[in-house]
Amino acid sequence: MRVLVTPDYRTLSLTAAELVVKAVRTKPGLVLGLPTGNTPIGLYEQLVRSYREQQLDFSKLRTFNLDEFVGLAPNDPHSYRTYMRKHFFDHVNVSAANTHIPENPGTYEDAIKQTGGIDLLIVGIGTNGHIAFNEPGSSFASRTREIELAPETIASAGKYFEGTPVPERAITMGIGTILESRCIVLLASGASKKSVVHRALNGPVSEAIPASALQLHPNVIAVLDEETSHHLRQLR
Ligand code: F6R
Repeated sequence: MRVLVTPDYRTLSLTAAELVVKAVRTKPGLVLGLPTGNTPIGLYEQLVRSYREQQLDFSKLRTFNLDEFVGLAPNDPHSYRTYMRKHFFDHVNVSAANTHIPENPGTYEDAIKQTGGIDLLIVGIGTNGHIAFNEPGSSFASRTREIELAPETIASAGKYFEGTPVPERAITMGIGTILESRCIVLLASGASKKSVVHRALNGPVSEAIPASALQLHPNVIAVLDEETSHHLRQLR
């Protein structure tokens, strides 16, 4: 695993964007796995900037999101499809037909396979160690499926739902699916992620910390900021 420690969130976002931009320039038909949440917002801002200022072409890009809540209409303001349109899809020339959000676990894996597999997957990490919505206890062999969200995940999503109930179930790419990606970039920022990132990258590989599965993958780049990487000096 390569660990890139950046001084702050802005540099973390720029560093992650550079990795994506380079991959898209090398392979315009890149198959890109994408997260939602707070952490990747700066990355999406930088990618939109690359599209506007450097004419980066996303027309052949294929995307697969990591997860989606169950029971929300695609145009619900809290759905991850809405998030992706707001932060990325509506601002670049990606073709809507090439963007995929997991709405049907049965067909999602087939759709990924038909593209030849995910080239580059970006993931965040929850404070309980989840990657995508693979909550603690998820099997490392798990595939895309419907799952019950952990109480802490529901609580932390609450601030975005502005009083409306947070769905208790979601569809998530499995850990087995994630580990089949050719390259995985983990993004983590801020002091609240410090302890879990240390456990995921440095601790025992265990289903109790789903993100520790990344230690099993041969091609992972962790892009962290100073606050998050405080405990990780020994990895540098
Ligand atoms: C979202 C996802 C989640 C988040 C994680 C961190 O698509 O897969 O695993 O990456 O919950 O969320 P933030 O970035 O909001 O701290």
